[in-house]
Amino acid sequence: MPPEVRPIRPDERTAWARSVGVPFLRPVTEDPADDEQHWEQPPLDRTWAVVDDDRFVGNAAVLDRRVNLPGPAGVDCPVVPLAAVTAVGVHPSHRRRGLLGRLMQAMLGDAVRRGDPLAGLQASEAAIYGRFGFGVATFAARRRIDTRRSSFSGKVPDVEVRLLGPSEAAEVLPGLFEKSIARTPGQVDRTEETWKWEVFDDFPAWRRGRSANFYAVSDDGYALYRAEPIAGASGHRLHVHEVCAVSPDAEAALWRFLFDIDLALEVEARPRPVLDPLSFRLVDPRALETTGVTDFLWLRVLDPVALLTARAYRAAGQLVLDVGAPTAAVLEPDPAVGRFVLDASPDGASCVPAPARRAADLRLGVAELGTLLTGAVTAWDLAAAGRLEELRPGALGVADALFATRPAPWDITGF
Ligand SMILES: CC(C)(COP(=O)(O)OP(=O)(O)OC[C@H]1O[C@@H](n2cnc3c(N)ncnc32)[C@H](O)[C@@H]1OP(=O)(O)O)[C@@H](O)C(=O)NCCC(=O)NCCS
Repeated sequence: MPPEVRPIRPDERTAWARSVGVPFLRPVTEDPADDEQHWEQPPLDRTWAVVDDDRFVGNAAVLDRRVNLPGPAGVDCPVVPLAAVTAVGVHPSHRRRGLLGRLMQAMLGDAVRRGDPLAGLQASEAAIYGRFGFGVATFAARRRIDTRRSSFSGKVPDVEVRLLGPSEAAEVLPGLFEKSIARTPGQVDRTEETWKWEVFDDFPAWRRGRSANFYAVSDDGYALYRAEPIAGASGHRLHVHEVCAVSPDAEAALWRFLFDIDLALEVEARPRPVLDPLSFRLVDPRALETTGVTDFLWLRVLDPVALLTARAYRAAGQLVLDVGAPTAAVLEPDPAVGRFVLDASPDGASCVPAPARRAADLRLGVAELGTLLTGAVTAWDLAAAGRLEELRPGALGVADALFATRPAPWDITGF
């Protein structure tokens, strides 16, 4: 019998959680302490297992989330439902037999039936998900600064920053987070469960030798960080996980607070935007080193008409997009595949399936459409990489004008 792919039953949560660890090289110990689940439980009917001979040999789940699409200038982003794919793994005993493909087929097919316009994930490896139609939709930079080189060139905003304990922080952080992400495309929302398990639970085994969370808060923003002693130095490195603020001044004040902490010799921060205004605040912009840039959020378009109508455009223009199937065609039919007429302007947009006689302007894949949706990469750059084809001269320029976004897409919430 080939393995079965199915949602789990209520009494299978622990077995499933154990299964999730195995592909990530966490063995099953049978120690009850290891079975305590310090993470958000996905809905049962979206928690998938691969079952072979009564054993779980693969797993994946979908969380109900929402994500910001690019919005009009000076206004909050439109927000759409996101099937947030997580906990994907196939045990080493069953790898490369097509089981990831079957899990994807189950999850994406289910998302289409539920009417989710979009699926998303964060990838352990960048070579895995393009074949299923996922395209990179946000990037994340890792930054490092020697705090002794962190002087600002201009005035430091006069903002009071105070340290809160976890229960006080739990009262104010979610509201500040929501306000701070409202105008940034690509930001994924958080539920009460996300805050509980990803932030405030602060499970000691997940700290990797670092301190518990510190919460530095002002009226208009917060910073979440941990401290780690630097071996051989009488000082610490701060690991800054989040700096969220509703204005540039509020953000600058939080960075100044972090850089001025006594005994903090170094600050490391991730995920940061690829181009960070913080570096232009510094007397010495090179002091803010970029130590890595990686893909972060990947998006898989499921309903192009809804998504291209919902996002905002900073320019006016018309394009006929010819969207081709991904190499691993797990959806039959695939609702993202076809030709679509986009008629966009800063006042709103419409997108409809193209009539048979309309010639296409651009040819691209579903994954590239996911990338253009947030504006993470320009059409010009996708074309230069051979991932998008200009069929009508001038169409690339129109696409670049239409899909450009400000601020650049960015996401800080993993799932
Ligand atoms: C990644 C993983 C889930 C793949 O599962 P799998 O069942 O072996 O994958 P499949 O057999 O369905 O492979 C489907 C296709 O993807 C390719 N593929 C699978 N894993 C890949 C990887 N890590 N890198 C590149 N290609 C990969 C396969 O070669 C296959 O390509 P083909 O159709 O051209 O032959 C599994 O290797 C795993 O659990 N890895 C460790 C945990 C992990 O990284 N999980 C992903 C978290 S985001």
